[in-house]
Amino acid sequence: MSDRRPIIAANWKMNKTPQEGVKFAEQLTTKALNLGRVDFILAPSATGLFHIHGALRDSAIELAGQNMHFAERGAYTGENSAAMLVASGCQWVLIGHSERRHVFHESDEDIRKKIPAALSAGLKVIHCIGERLEEREKGRTREILQHQISNDLADLSGFPADKLIIAYEPVWAIGTGVVATPEQAGEAHAQIREIVGQLFPGPSGEQVKILYGGSVKSDSAAALIRIPGIDGFLIGGASLDVDEYCNIAEIAATEVLDNR
Ligand code: PGA
Repeated sequence: MSDRRPIIAANWKMNKTPQEGVKFAEQLTTKALNLGRVDFILAPSATGLFHIHGALRDSAIELAGQNMHFAERGAYTGENSAAMLVASGCQWVLIGHSERRHVFHESDEDIRKKIPAALSAGLKVIHCIGERLEEREKGRTREILQHQISNDLADLSGFPADKLIIAYEPVWAIGTGVVATPEQAGEAHAQIREIVGQLFPGPSGEQVKILYGGSVKSDSAAALIRIPGIDGFLIGGASLDVDEYCNIAEIAATEVLDNR
């Protein structure tokens, strides 16, 4: 992945059958030929990965799992291992998405174990963090980000800047239609950069790429991507429609590569 190209990641959550995913992937590969200036990552549900991988085979579009278990194998009904994601065509996995943390009550310990497990299986990680509304209202945003980063990355010996990106997704902005203002997102991204830099002093910590996620749409994308600390987006709802997803990518490419 190149340095300046925005990363435009799609988190489909529990949407799209494998057949619908393949159709989207086929449309996207055609459209991406003309776009060509962003790095696309699709995170479909686990059932669609293998087929969508087939549809993406001749493209540079990469694939992510939405979650994984930290164990290599065993009696974990309903779970998928990192090796299974790799064998299904994934280069990436999302770890610590707010729905995993807050809907499925994934513990700090689980998330901490998943990151090294993913990396050692050869996956790159999109590490999702973000504060809840009540935490923001109490002025605890930085504290929450600090806690999530220092807990979740505690078992890493260095910051793998080429294999780990952070997605800042304020919980109050996810799926709500309430997008963070460019100022709010910019401030949080700067704090994340500072925290990573303190935990992992040196050039690799400074190189961290940070995506913004939370109700990103084509009408909010330009103002957000103009903020220098925002390296791309993790998009839920608006990524389900291939035209809207590509519009956001086009806007990001234009702002970053032509104007920044
Ligand atoms: P949203 O979801 O774009 O629908 O708010 C973002 C996410 O959960 O990654």
